[in-house]
Amino acid sequence: MRLENKLFQGKTLAILSGGGDTPAINSSIESIRNRASLLGFRVYGILQGWKGLLGDGDIVDLTNQPYDGYYGGTALRSSRTNPFPSKKNRESRVPQVLGNLEKYKIDVLVTIGGDDTNGAAKRLFETEGIPVIGFPKTIDNDLRTRTIHYYDGKEIEAVLCPGFPSAARSMMEMTASLKSTAESHSRIIVLEVMGRDAGWLTGTPTFGGATLGLVPEFEITKERKEVFFETVREAYMHSRKKCLVIPVSEGIRWYDEKTGKVDVVYASSEVDEYGHPRFGGVSGVIASEISAKLGIEARAQISGYYARSGHCRHYDRKLTTTLADKVVDLLLREEYGQMPVMKKIVPHVELEEFNTTSIDMGSVGNKPLSEDYYDINRFSFTPAYADFLSKILEKPTFEEFRYDFPVVIP
Ligand code: F6P
Repeated sequence: MRLENKLFQGKTLAILSGGGDTPAINSSIESIRNRASLLGFRVYGILQGWKGLLGDGDIVDLTNQPYDGYYGGTALRSSRTNPFPSKKNRESRVPQVLGNLEKYKIDVLVTIGGDDTNGAAKRLFETEGIPVIGFPKTIDNDLRTRTIHYYDGKEIEAVLCPGFPSAARSMMEMTASLKSTAESHSRIIVLEVMGRDAGWLTGTPTFGGATLGLVPEFEITKERKEVFFETVREAYMHSRKKCLVIPVSEGIRWYDEKTGKVDVVYASSEVDEYGHPRFGGVSGVIASEISAKLGIEARAQISGYYARSGHCRHYDRKLTTTLADKVVDLLLREEYGQMPVMKKIVPHVELEEFNTTSIDMGSVGNKPLSEDYYDINRFSFTPAYADFLSKILEKPTFEEFRYDFPVVIP
């Protein structure tokens, strides 16, 4: 039998990316585009997330175009535009979105995003019957992917989102670098890490030589703060070089002596169209309190957008291509309203289609760092977390100059 046409010849699939960028989005776009093209789809890119489906539409043709999947960020660009009414924007833009999907003759929509972008896609699927496939993305790693981590006879519900592995590697490397300046000055560096309300990314500096850490899942009350300072003092005194790098999540809730309340530190009073405020600055508060309380020099370093920047790392490249393989399966079955995910946490060689599954986009939501991964009494990440991270980053990376010069006695 000779096939005249490819299976989806004459159909159009469009891809958009919404929310905060990651180093793995271009890799996701390229992998989805390549596979959809093989099936016969014409592939469009919608610019700036949902925004590209408003007004006259802002859409480019990705079919047969060169594409650099290693380059970080997203060539389709991104926005936090919400098609549904929100506090910030009361009007529904759904009619505009539907109008453009029809005008550009888009048959299937693939939305690369976190809970917000994919949540909106899911609503369009449920309320308007738009064929959508969600594709996970976030450096925060807090999008519920229902990926199981098998550890020590236990099944822990973990998360594995494209973008997190590259961000994790960058945070590991950044921490390993910061250690040399911390060592030279016998200082504590309080390293602020993105992640919004989740502490998944904050654990990654432990592979760069950090020991303690603070995450948003466990608030730091007045009492906890005293214990934390004592733990910091001990860790510092026991450190070989009298220095520490302490990662803290940007969204931790920290007791404020002046107000007597536990709260997050906001970078701005503005909220986006999904109602999220912007956090930032808690590392400065903690560093100055450590200096004042313990008499140890402490400095703050906000890692911020660095975690989101740079090229797609190896694990992410393989993860995105594997999940794109699962997109092919969903397209062939015409199963929409689904999101491809990894079934279990595996090393890069096991990132293969047979280890994927798909979940109903209706059951996606946010997943905080599991209690199995953080020890609130020690303010540190557990061996289970180290095992989770070792699958993604393999070995910890930190060089140490183990000098021990003889002291000169005059
Ligand atoms: O959700 C991803 C993220 O990078 C968060 O970690 C961070 O709080 C937020 O986006 C920053 O958003 P923006 O790009 O709007 O400053």
